[in-house]
Amino acid sequence: MKSVLLFMGSPRQGGNTDLLSDAFLQGAKEAGGEVTKIYLYKKEFLPCVECGGCDESGECILKDDMTALYDNIQQADIIVVASPMFFYNITAKTQALVERSQALWIRKYVLKQAVEKEKQGVFLSVGATKGKMLFDGSIRVIRYFLDAVGAKLTAGLMFRGIEAKGAIKEHPCALKSARALGAGMVTGSALDEIEEIYLP
Ligand SMILES: Cc1cc2nc3c(=O)[nH]c(=O)nc-3n(C[C@H](O)[C@H](O)[C@H](O)COP(=O)(O)O)c2cc1C
Repeated sequence: MKSVLLFMGSPRQGGNTDLLSDAFLQGAKEAGGEVTKIYLYKKEFLPCVECGGCDESGECILKDDMTALYDNIQQADIIVVASPMFFYNITAKTQALVERSQALWIRKYVLKQAVEKEKQGVFLSVGATKGKMLFDGSIRVIRYFLDAVGAKLTAGLMFRGIEAKGAIKEHPCALKSARALGAGMVTGSALDEIEEIYLP
């Protein structure tokens, strides 16, 4: 059974990212996946403080809510990062998660430890504006984060013009696509017919 670990990076519970995440997880669950959703804004953890504490061991020496998440990340088959755009970026808490993956980056690239499990990665996002490059910078960040934790960015769903809480429900395909993507990631079926799918 594939395990899916989703990081919900919006502070707004019941908002657009949350709804998109739930649709994805519903699809994944219906396809037989085991799903875990982490609300990042309910967790207490710092961004990387650049103490160098992980440089030789690959173990982060900060002890907070992130500590348990390292194991969760290592054990998952599919990692999903879901964040709205805040100032053309992922949210601060999502960025804190990204930065704290430095310990795993050290294990992979400095200590040359074999990645415990090859994983797949997904990026889900929404933004209010319609700028062509709205998600470009964040896609790079997420790809780099996923690489650090031993995952490959497999697919994404990013929707523009979504602002008010719940507006994603009015979008013609967003929730349907998220559900199909969740199922497709678990079953390993082709994703290219999912509406508005981003395939790197
Ligand atoms: C602090 C803040 C900054 C934002 N910056 C952007 C932005 O740069 N570009 C954009 O398209 N939308 C921006 N938005 C709008 C949100 O991305 C949008 O309302 C989104 O639907 C919120 O998703 P949520 O309901 O999952 O939190 C911003 C919203 C907030 C609160």
